[in-house]
Amino acid sequence: MDRKLFLAVAGFAAAVAVPAALAADRAPADVVKSQCGRCHEAGTSGAPKPGDKAAWAPRFNKGVDALVLSAIRGHGGMPPRGGKADLTDGELRGAVLYLFDPTGATKPPVKASAAAPVAVGLHKASAGGLDVYLGRMSAEQMRAYPAGSPEAKMHGGIPSGSGYHHINVSVFDAASQAQVTGATVELEYQQLGMGGQKATLEAATVAGQTSYGAYVRLAPKANYNFLVRVKKPGAKQEAEVRFQEKLN
Ligand code: HEC
Repeated sequence: MDRKLFLAVAGFAAAVAVPAALAADRAPADVVKSQCGRCHEAGTSGAPKPGDKAAWAPRFNKGVDALVLSAIRGHGGMPPRGGKADLTDGELRGAVLYLFDPTGATKPPVKASAAAPVAVGLHKASAGGLDVYLGRMSAEQMRAYPAGSPEAKMHGGIPSGSGYHHINVSVFDAASQAQVTGATVELEYQQLGMGGQKATLEAATVAGQTSYGAYVRLAPKANYNFLVRVKKPGAKQEAEVRFQEKLN
């Protein structure tokens, strides 16, 4: 069964605990054949075909990361993660590159201004019967979204100052893997050795998937502790999970 794993944004260089299920990537050719092909081989609703470089090149102008993000979040007629919720970010990245050129001979065009490649990953932690995923993406990366897209408009828009990051939390019931909506999600973030700060994450639904997010300002190259508190509607207790990350 698919695990309802929707994780909108990520970008973790140093995942503290990489869940075993996410460690071994399936081969891009298999992912594309089994999952992406049903639309992309067929060209359903204008899905660009594998190896159709002319169709893919303008999209790759946005940068590989932005395309991987489109595949993660869903785009136009494409559901999040190409409809297969348990595909990891790494597997999606492999599939996206494979779609551009199945032989792997040509690398996709890279816009001169494209940001340095980011490690795409995710943090997962479980507590109180919930699976909680946390992702982070810099405001610069969020700007890869077109101005009118739901991602660009979330939480009052992308802040213009420097050092902002979008923190995104997705919550699933550990037993049923059903998405948890209507929860109250709070974030405490603390640079090691410094005082903690708090943010209440706001629910946003993009392509039918709810996640909780906010922009926070983080210091570059710093180590951060993230504490996420989730209170499900009607639940007596909150679940608490912790993540740690070193920023680039
Ligand atoms: C249900 C059909 C469907 C499936 C399954 C599907 N896609 Fe797509 N995909 C589309 C369509 C349609 C588009 C074009 C959407 C548009 O630009 O409006 C698209 C576009 C894309 C894009 C370009 C996004 C952009 O921002 O321009 C990428 C990358 C992509 N798909 C990757 C994948 C990967 C990887 C998989 C498999 C894991 C996959 N797709 C599975 C239908 C699908």
